[in-house]
Amino acid sequence: MTASLPAPTWFVGCGNMAGAMVEGWRSADVNLSGATVVRPSGKPVEGIRTVTEFLQAGAFPAMVVLGFKPQKLDEVAPELARYITPDTTIVSILAGVEVESLRARFPNAGSIVRAMPNLPVAVRRGVVGLFSDEADDQLKAQLGELFATLGFAMWMTDEARLSALGSVAGAGPAYVARFIAALAKAGEARGLSPEIAQTIAQETVLGTAWLASSTRENMADIARRVASPNGTTEAGLAVLDRDDVLDQLIAVTIEAAARRGAELAAEARLS
Ligand SMILES: NC(=O)c1ccc[n+]([C@@H]2O[C@H](COP(=O)([O-])OP(=O)(O)OC[C@H]3O[C@@H](n4cnc5c(N)ncnc54)[C@H](OP(=O)(O)O)[C@@H]3O)[C@@H](O)[C@H]2O)c1
Repeated sequence: MTASLPAPTWFVGCGNMAGAMVEGWRSADVNLSGATVVRPSGKPVEGIRTVTEFLQAGAFPAMVVLGFKPQKLDEVAPELARYITPDTTIVSILAGVEVESLRARFPNAGSIVRAMPNLPVAVRRGVVGLFSDEADDQLKAQLGELFATLGFAMWMTDEARLSALGSVAGAGPAYVARFIAALAKAGEARGLSPEIAQTIAQETVLGTAWLASSTRENMADIARRVASPNGTTEAGLAVLDRDDVLDQLIAVTIEAAARRGAELAAEARLS
């Protein structure tokens, strides 16, 4: 049996991320017939009724997916709150904005759930972290099933761990994209065409992740199996590993993003 979105479900904002979720659900044959997108531009979303105002959205929602930027919360919340009842589940994908801040804006809502997805949900290979200290087991099971159609979904035990997941998985596709681009540039520098270099780089990353996921081997073992003693890969790894340069770079990258996440959380708390 395929999963269904609760009817009616309102997507409030449907840009890159909520749009990717819709794409994933559509390709998983999740029933989207009870869904409506509310967005100021009215830009159509394939297979879903799209309107520009809450007034046009129809019956009060059973579920609302908050898919706008965290900075828009105070613009959207006062009007949206009029359509929220104790039977409404709110699922927020707003990075950094805590349940308490959402509860302050939507005091009447049923359960408030935070979801932290990443872009590959569009092709059903995403990672989704979920958190709620309010949802009952039945709702958790229902949402867990719905998000599992988008890839790997897991409930986190607290918001700190949800942020940790977000800083690795939510933002991760951007970092991996940069790594693939760097790998491709190096291929180009050695004479490959840009197209071939990019294909080779991305297939190498995909294949390595696939191998790890299929065999459950850890990364150190995979690296060891590629690098024969005193060989070419070992010479390359010696550069990457010198003074833990790669680990350090990733650590400061993620720290910078986490700092920004903390700022967004603080802004949502104060305003
Ligand atoms: N991008 C990611 O990889 C990622 C990952 C995890 C979480 N998130 C979270 O996802 C959320 C959306 O990010 P995004 O990258 O998808 O942004 P985006 O592409 O800019 O989309 C924002 C959406 O919000 C809508 N919007 C703007 N003002 C609105 C209003 N007053 N009422 C209703 N909708 C409004 C926009 O509608 P129009 O198009 O009609 O202007 C657009 O559909 C953010 O909170 C972010 O933290 C993103």
